Amino acid sequence: MKIVCIGGGPAGLYFALLMKQQDPRHEIAVVERNKPYDTFGWGVVFSDQTLGNLQAADAPSAAQILDAFNHWDDIEVHIRGHRIRSGGHGFCGIGRKRLLNILQARCEEVGVELVFETDVKSAAEYADADLVIASDGLNSRVRNEFADTFRPDVDVRRNRFVWLGTTRLFDAFTFDFQETPHGWFQAHAYRFDATHSTFIVETPEEVWAKAGLDRMEKEESIAFCEKLFAGVLQGHPLLSNAAHLRGSSQWIKFPRVVCEHWVHRLGGAGGTPVVLMGDAAHTAHFSIGSGTKLALEDAIELARTIGNSRGDLTAALEAYEAVRSIEVLKIQNAARNSTEWFEHVDRYVKLPPEQFAYSLLTRSQRISHENLRLRDQSYVEEYEDWIAQRSGLPGRSQVDAGVQRASCKHSIPPMLTPFTARGVTLKNRIVVSPMAQYSCTDGVPGDYHLVHLGARAMGGAGMVVAEMTCTSPDARITPGCPGLWSTAQRDAWKRIVDFVHANSEAKIAMQIGHAGAKGSTRVPWEGEDQPLAEGNWPLVSASPQQYLDGISDWSRAMTRADMDRVTADFVRATRYAAEAGFDWLELHCAHGYLLSSFISPLTNQRTDWYGGSLDNRLRYPLEVFAAIRAVWPKHLPISVRISAHDWVEGGITPDDAVEIARRFKAAGADLIDCSSGQVSKKQQPVYGRMYQTPFADRIRNEAGIATIAVGAISEADHVNSIIAAGRADLCAIARPHLANPAWTLLEAAKIGVTEVEWPKQYRSAKQQLERNLEREKQMAAQGGGLSALEQANRALGV
Ligand SMILES: Cc1cc2nc3c(=O)[nH]c(=O)nc-3n(C[C@H](O)[C@H](O)[C@H](O)COP(=O)(O)OP(=O)(O)OC[C@H]3O[C@@H](n4cnc5c(N)ncnc54)[C@H](O)[C@@H]3O)c2cc1C
Ligand SMILES: Cc1cc2nc3c(=O)[nH]c(=O)nc-3n(C[C@H](O)[C@H](O)[C@H](O)COP(=O)(O)O)c2cc1C
Repeated sequence: MKIVCIGGGPAGLYFALLMKQQDPRHEIAVVERNKPYDTFGWGVVFSDQTLGNLQAADAPSAAQILDAFNHWDDIEVHIRGHRIRSGGHGFCGIGRKRLLNILQARCEEVGVELVFETDVKSAAEYADADLVIASDGLNSRVRNEFADTFRPDVDVRRNRFVWLGTTRLFDAFTFDFQETPHGWFQAHAYRFDATHSTFIVETPEEVWAKAGLDRMEKEESIAFCEKLFAGVLQGHPLLSNAAHLRGSSQWIKFPRVVCEHWVHRLGGAGGTPVVLMGDAAHTAHFSIGSGTKLALEDAIELARTIGNSRGDLTAALEAYEAVRSIEVLKIQNAARNSTEWFEHVDRYVKLPPEQFAYSLLTRSQRISHENLRLRDQSYVEEYEDWIAQRSGLPGRSQVDAGVQRASCKHSIPPMLTPFTARGVTLKNRIVVSPMAQYSCTDGVPGDYHLVHLGARAMGGAGMVVAEMTCTSPDARITPGCPGLWSTAQRDAWKRIVDFVHANSEAKIAMQIGHAGAKGSTRVPWEGEDQPLAEGNWPLVSASPQQYLDGISDWSRAMTRADMDRVTADFVRATRYAAEAGFDWLELHCAHGYLLSSFISPLTNQRTDWYGGSLDNRLRYPLEVFAAIRAVWPKHLPISVRISAHDWVEGGITPDDAVEIARRFKAAGADLIDCSSGQVSKKQQPVYGRMYQTPFADRIRNEAGIATIAVGAISEADHVNSIIAAGRADLCAIARPHLANPAWTLLEAAKIGVTEVEWPKQYRSAKQQLERNLEREKQMAAQGGGLSALEQANRALGV
């Protein structure tokens, strides 16, 4: 095969050498515009895992790379005079020049032709080749040339950064954060050879401009950074080797590149394939150190698929694109979280330094609490101890000194620490999320609810939230919904509350709401959101609307008199909730129901005081909030559930949600329960694990109010990571609690925590469960990491 790689970075060189090594008959050239051994940049990092892949692909170059690597395990975070260090991260640093030199020399050794100082104008120059690789980097000319095929999407990010070097040798991957009158700057620094470290300085564009860096010459801006980071540089200079970049142009903005397709055929079907590789195909933010890894792994994969293809190049290219685009997407997702974290450092600097560092370490959401524990158990235990002490528990040191809780010798995971709002303390951070059961007659909760909520209260959660309970008969979603408009309903609720208090340590919350335009529908198992066959009641909402176009009944806009009546209903329900003995109240302002219909511009087209600006749209929900707060006991908290994102163009955005939270906070709300969607059928949510947690994170850390995270939080590890990083104060778990009322007890046992109170009647099950889990863990350790179930399945050939 005749192969040409346009661009002699890591991708082009590595692919060339792997193909030549695979079959010396291949005729391979790498065409590079720079001179030999001439490149800019400092070090790059790899994880230990990447090294394993290189070893398997080409042992001689891997050996040289390994030899040149500087290995370190620790990450150190410097913030406000604190230094927080954690270990076990396993990174290697190598100079970019050194890496390229190794690859160039190895290419020459195996017989790849290296053509330097040749700036390729068009891939069409190589139409006589069998395969052209577009490995021409971030600003790929080839990608632009065939943009119609590749369909690149380039998202230029908000921060400015400069890639510098220094002679200060860091013994850990160091993140240093410095405040200026204009905002925060951060440095990412790591050693990559015997004499130098990489030192990347980064800050949001507006901070950069306000600091005057947009007008400074290169030397001036380096002097600015030296002064700013003098503490960590310890007298060492900052160095630039980007001689071709002048003035402020050395400060770049990171472009996130995604391409819909990776293969173009010159001259149409059957023509020479031009294949994207490395940064030309995709980029991953430097803060997760994966750009070079991705480039090298692209090369490995394409060489592998061609080697296995028995001459079918088209199939090989399809397989390459399919496999690599998925792998790249995973890294890009993690990189996006990491990029956003560094773009919003100002959000996190308010956290205590210990939590700030933890938040940084887990920013990509790929490294969870348990991953961190595997890396550095003592760091995690000390941190858990710190969280426990902040939530009012004695630390391990105090425990060891015999002060209290003598049974708890190890640290307590964040999920199991208490949380206090006003006069109410939840024993842990798990909340059974409100879940409509549609199983009432005349709005009166019965035995079904006693068993349903009672079982979940006994299942270990800190609090159980009753389903949306409606403030009047015409406030119901379905005829099966519970209510709180009569004393009969109040007393029926009291029976449940009393049971929970008598038989568990859980608190119980009441969620009150009004269905608005989403009311008067059938129970879901008879047709979700479908209007009743008969007996429909009139609907009100902020503006006239039909939730399901052409199907739902039309609602009419509320008049002032309607508003007064509904506010009075909310107040009555609140009084009854207090009389029933509930510990906590939640106001339902989410999911397109009545109060939510005022907040979202998608459902509020009013032209009076209650429509238009966000201020106006919040006016009625805040009136209701003020009215219920006035009658709800002062020592008990109120949370407000909102849809923090409508997932529809023109609807509520997370930016709005922060503002909404600020207003409810000012009105006296204690927590914001951060749900999303269900406001419009046009919604396009992006689901994934913990997908709504970023809203809880933003609201907590920007609006400064406690939050409840909810949505696809399904294991203790998720909860521990969320609470420990300060992304939320509580985690509401819904569907997993339908599958298992004792979700908290099981999850605690799974992570090996035995100091959890079970209902006394169930204690024998606790011991058995813990024994079985321990045995399973031991068998997994003996069976090469397979669980007992997996081993059994293997044995059965399943
Ligand atoms: C500040 C910063 C820090 C980074 N840190 C890391 C890190 O720690 N770890 C990591 O893995 N990655 C890191 N990266 C990313 C990494 O540098 C790239 O992802 C990696 O180099 C991609 O390899 P590549 O071969 O695809 O592209 P490149 O390395 O960009 O190589 C492309 C080559 O093509 C040549 N070229 C371009 N156009 C033409 C043309 N028309 N004709 C001929 N030649 C051409 C260029 O001169 C260049 O040599 C960092 C990037 C930046 C900006
Ligand atoms: C059957 C069911 C009923 C629900 N009813 C309510 C409700 O009454 N009030 C409410 O705010 N959310 C309700 N939700 C939403 C959940 O509280 C929760 O936000 C959502 O299910 C996401 O959490 P999960 O991924 O843990 O299930 C309901 C969800 C389910 C599955």
